[in-house]
Amino acid sequence: MLSNNTIALVKSTIPLLSNAGTAVTAHFYDRMFTHNPELKDIFNMSNQQSGKQHFALFNALAAYATHIDNLPVLATAVERINHKHASLNIQPHHYDIVGTHLIETLKELAPNEFTPDIEQAWREAYALLADVFITQEEGIYKTTESKQGGWRNTRTFVINETVQESAKVKSFYLRSADNKPVVGFQAGQYISVHVKPKGCDNTQIRQYSLSDVQQDKGYRISVKNQGLVSGHMHSLNVGDVVELSPPAGDFMLQQTDSPKVLISAGVGITPMMAMLESIAASKPDVKTQFLHACINSTEHSFANRVNALTNSAPNIEADIWYEQGPSQYHQGRINLTPLTLPLTNGEFYVCGPTPFMAAMKAQLLSLGVAPARILYEVFGPHESL
Ligand code: HEM
Repeated sequence: MLSNNTIALVKSTIPLLSNAGTAVTAHFYDRMFTHNPELKDIFNMSNQQSGKQHFALFNALAAYATHIDNLPVLATAVERINHKHASLNIQPHHYDIVGTHLIETLKELAPNEFTPDIEQAWREAYALLADVFITQEEGIYKTTESKQGGWRNTRTFVINETVQESAKVKSFYLRSADNKPVVGFQAGQYISVHVKPKGCDNTQIRQYSLSDVQQDKGYRISVKNQGLVSGHMHSLNVGDVVELSPPAGDFMLQQTDSPKVLISAGVGITPMMAMLESIAASKPDVKTQFLHACINSTEHSFANRVNALTNSAPNIEADIWYEQGPSQYHQGRINLTPLTLPLTNGEFYVCGPTPFMAAMKAQLLSLGVAPARILYEVFGPHESL
């Protein structure tokens, strides 16, 4: 329990944290990677270069300071971070490292505001938050490990087959190298791939949504050829091996009978394919609308499979938008207004680039959909929509 005085002192730093500009965040990461270079094997070094992740940690700490007297409002956000951390195999001792560099950064860069009293308050508050994270993440590790086919940390998988799904997206069928069963997952979840791309000094970890329903000894991911790790994946061949963390993630198809609307753009289609396959296999009575936007026919992944599913399953309908070129589909960007959607009783699943998701969320809210019915997955560091 934190004292009222500690809470007040932590709250007084909200402006300091939420205004922490690039200078503060960059100092923190530079400091941490200089003293603890081993963490470069855990963090996304491409995000470090672009500065994206810089803000996620400080924004989360500002949110923590804001709600420190009413932590339940942060439960969903904390769960999302816990899943991401678990897929990165974050360990208790990492929290000490991050905590030390956070406090030292604030002392070094804001010596007048970050007084000894405030430092002591943050030490207590950070320890409490770290404890919550460590306990919840250990819970995820233990649960996954104890399930049939489960494991902790990484396990070796072999690329069994690859399929080009569109100009830039390739599917990888990954089978466990020990040829033993693998733990199940919920449609919508992701796995982490741990690889060392050519010319890169560090191991890099990336999350990829599972793009098909469960298979006994393996998983399928579908990767767009873009960026360091995805580019490396595209250079691999059948027979090559990768290390995987077990499935994780809080974006999941709800096991209810409510109508489902799956809305995606570009490679955001991947978790939707797992959801669609799962509905086709086990929810023949659940009305499902599959809405997908892509640039044009060459970038249209899984077109044949979605057609086959809509033709064979009377509960599934699909609407497709092409941004460019004439086609048999809708033209331009997704406009939800003319569609007949289950606005009051449906579940809306959204995945794609952040501006696309923000646009879909705005459209859904303006149509009167309750925020709790809109579920989404962000690729890359989480940004508020
Ligand atoms: C991602 C917060 C501790 C490593 C994130 C994200 C947030 C966050 C908000 C973005 C989640 C998303 O993308 O949805 C925090 C907070 C911490 C903490 C508040 C302390 C209480 C740690 C520790 C480590 C760590 C101890 C490991 C040393 C990472 C990594 C990512 C991440 C590697 C993925 C993004 C990237 O690779 O740059 N964390 N985190 N975090 N966190 Fe943490």
